[in-house]
Amino acid sequence: MNILVTGGAGFIGSNFIYYELAAHEDKVICLDLLTYAGNISTLSTAMQNEKFKFIKGDITDRVFVYDLFKREKPDIVVNFAAESHVDRSIETPEIFLQTNIIGTGVLLDACRKYGIKRYHQVSTDEVYGDLPLDRPDLFFTEDTPLRTSSPYSASKAAADLLVQAYHRTYGLPVSISRCSNNYGPYHFPEKLIPLMIINALNDKQLPIYGTGRNVRDWLYVEDHCQAIDLIVRKGQEGEIYNVGGHNEKTNLQVVEMILKYLHKPYELIKFVTDRPGHDRRYAINPAKINDELDWQPKTRFNEGMKKTIKWYLAHRDWWQKIIDGSYKDYYAKMYEDK
Ligand code: NAD
Ligand code: DAU
Repeated sequence: MNILVTGGAGFIGSNFIYYELAAHEDKVICLDLLTYAGNISTLSTAMQNEKFKFIKGDITDRVFVYDLFKREKPDIVVNFAAESHVDRSIETPEIFLQTNIIGTGVLLDACRKYGIKRYHQVSTDEVYGDLPLDRPDLFFTEDTPLRTSSPYSASKAAADLLVQAYHRTYGLPVSISRCSNNYGPYHFPEKLIPLMIINALNDKQLPIYGTGRNVRDWLYVEDHCQAIDLIVRKGQEGEIYNVGGHNEKTNLQVVEMILKYLHKPYELIKFVTDRPGHDRRYAINPAKINDELDWQPKTRFNEGMKKTIKWYLAHRDWWQKIIDGSYKDYYAKMYEDK
């Protein structure tokens, strides 16, 4: 089979490519625009694998995407390509609508036109909005209503609705996964865990938004990749699967864990202005994927965090180039007045 992975030069997409190449004999084609978040060096090992091919291009470019489908004849499409950072969506929503909604629409049309066995949309738990901090009994199920907070999550919810509409109206064989926060290798340094690891290593302040009591439900990226692989190959058409491992932590707990592991002082923490519309708590109920596909996360948080911190210690060349480049301007703009 030919698997088209869009957004495969980003964090989760690249981990998924390595997972697929190791687990199956299928050919993997990566389509990625290499935006600020895409990094071709992340795929350097995959480039040496004859089952792998990289194509640079834009999922919103209809002519280009149709031509690619005609040539490469993908059987399965897994769409990771997106603008993925909530803070950036608050600054510049337009690009989120363009990539996340229009891009998804173009891919769906290409699937209709050329035919595929499965289109899988990589979505997020953020489409459900947030949960109150004082109701630990509440979790997101696949039936939780969509109630988005940021331009990012609104664009992801719109894309999900489009995917479901193409299933209902055109019978397109689709599936959707809605996962909680991932962490692990190749995570872009704008996101909480890599940002805090790198700042701590450089003895820079660790900017925690608001009180630090917001809760995220962390999942090691390889566990997410395994879940997507199972859904694409064994999951039911037209279905949504929530993915998460009941691993809720406050942001403060996560940051303290990083400081402890790196033997850095608590005084590096700086509480800064909160993110507008900051979601309080995410918590996934993964019962459906547990029951139907027998999926369970394999990596415990302590073990996953140790692996992740070790990875950032061993791959300074990967992130140093990012923080020395245009990301430096973004960091100055976003954090200097906080
Ligand atoms: P990322 O920002 O690290 O990577 C996104 C990739 O998409 C980059 O390689 C970028 O170059 C590419 N891209 C952007 N616009 C493109 C375009 N127009 N055409 C082609 N490629 C384009 O994102 P990530 O964290 O790896 O997230 C991947 C997907 O998973 C996203 O759809 C995101 O919404 C979803 N998701 C992420 C998380 C998380 O914790 N990171 C959790 C749940 C769901
Ligand atoms: O839940 C899944 C989502 O997780 C994905 O859909 C998104 O693509 C992904 O970016 C992530 O969104 P979050 O907003 O939860 O991730 P982020 O790493 O930006 O922030 C995690 C928490 O840490 C959040 O409560 C905000 C807080 N934070 C973040 C940054 C960057 C800080 O306190 N300080 C920071 O500097």
